[in-house]
Amino acid sequence: MYNIGVIGCGNRMSGLVSILEKQPDMRITAIADPRMDELRRQFSGRDIAFYPDAGTILASEALDGVMIGTRCSLHTPMALLAGRYELPLFLEKPLSTSYSQLEALQSLLPQNERIVVSFPLRRSPIVEAVKEVIDSGSLGRMQHVQVWNNVYYGRGYYHKWYRDESETGGLFLQKATHNSDYINYLLSDMRPIRICAMKSKQIFRGDLPAGQKCADCPHLAECPESPEKIAGYGVNSGSTHGECYFAVDTGNEDSGSALIEYESGMHAAYSQNFFVRKDAGSRGARLMGYYGTVQFDFNTNVIDVIYHNEDRRVTRKIDGGGSHSGGDGLLMQNFADAVHGRDISHTTLAEGILSARMCLAARESAECRRFVEL
Ligand SMILES: NC(=O)c1ccc[n+]([C@@H]2O[C@H](COP(=O)([O-])OP(=O)(O)OC[C@H]3O[C@@H](n4cnc5c(N)ncnc54)[C@H](O)[C@@H]3O)[C@@H](O)[C@H]2O)c1
Repeated sequence: MYNIGVIGCGNRMSGLVSILEKQPDMRITAIADPRMDELRRQFSGRDIAFYPDAGTILASEALDGVMIGTRCSLHTPMALLAGRYELPLFLEKPLSTSYSQLEALQSLLPQNERIVVSFPLRRSPIVEAVKEVIDSGSLGRMQHVQVWNNVYYGRGYYHKWYRDESETGGLFLQKATHNSDYINYLLSDMRPIRICAMKSKQIFRGDLPAGQKCADCPHLAECPESPEKIAGYGVNSGSTHGECYFAVDTGNEDSGSALIEYESGMHAAYSQNFFVRKDAGSRGARLMGYYGTVQFDFNTNVIDVIYHNEDRRVTRKIDGGGSHSGGDGLLMQNFADAVHGRDISHTTLAEGILSARMCLAARESAECRRFVEL
């Protein structure tokens, strides 16, 4: 039996540990989280040791692996702390929220292959199937890429703690980190070298006072984002939290776009949005070579391959069962294999650092209105 410790066991990690524990020899034996009492209740009946902080769990427990799932700004400090023990690590994204954190994280590169970064989309069966098409060479070398992420469920980015940009680092780091990572994976040896970006906040802003909560808001009845209305939209992000979408302290842009130049001269266009709803939600990409185009969307799990010079189009539905289009299960399998020592990470620290660097560069470019070199 392998003993796994968790540092920061909130929503995300609670979902992942239940997937990890489907492996017969993986057990969560210790958790470090300041919410110890709540977590004791959540895991009642289990033989788990609880600690208030990361330093104590690492010093006290004989662990075989560590999972880090705190909020974003603590990912780098926690990874540096756990890295001293040279254990297999599972690390949530985004890896860092500032350039200085990212520089510090490089000190863990010697442990690159034992660190599994939480990029489920790269591991999903649909991305693997697209990669097979691209790697077959039948479309030619990829010469242009268009990527979209229209987030229909993104209420938590304004209603919950995610609305605090000093915690998340903004929505390029929060969301685009996944997309830049799986595109880098699909493009194999093509290296991104330069980025320019823009972001805007056109909808989720306003003049209600800082700290405004739905519970005591005089505009609740007519507010289009009240917990009651959000529940009616069929999304669950943040409906019980009730922090205001339209206050002076509502953080985060509500749309953003980036152009990424690759070493070959090829470029990719990426665009994300957080106010669409229902079937307007979409997340996917179109990659184009001279001989053909492959396009796909995580929401439909359909891949479409169109050959430019033939009367041929192949459409496939992929079985992407499980959270994050099936990627979470494969991430946990990979972490378990890294703990066993029978496989290396397939979402490495170096790849996480590159993706975070791209997102930090996009944020810098949007704020400074200039191209940023990677
Ligand atoms: N990879 C993905 O697809 C994916 C999906 C969702 C969330 N996430 C990431 O997961 C992270 C956590 O998100 P969440 O929604 O679970 O948040 P959350 O607030 O539910 O969980 C964070 C946990 O960290 C704990 N914590 C706070 N300070 C701590 C400390 N000093 N030491 C130890 N624990 C501490 C909190 O008490 C809480 O239990 C975020 O960074 C988010 O970006 C990733």
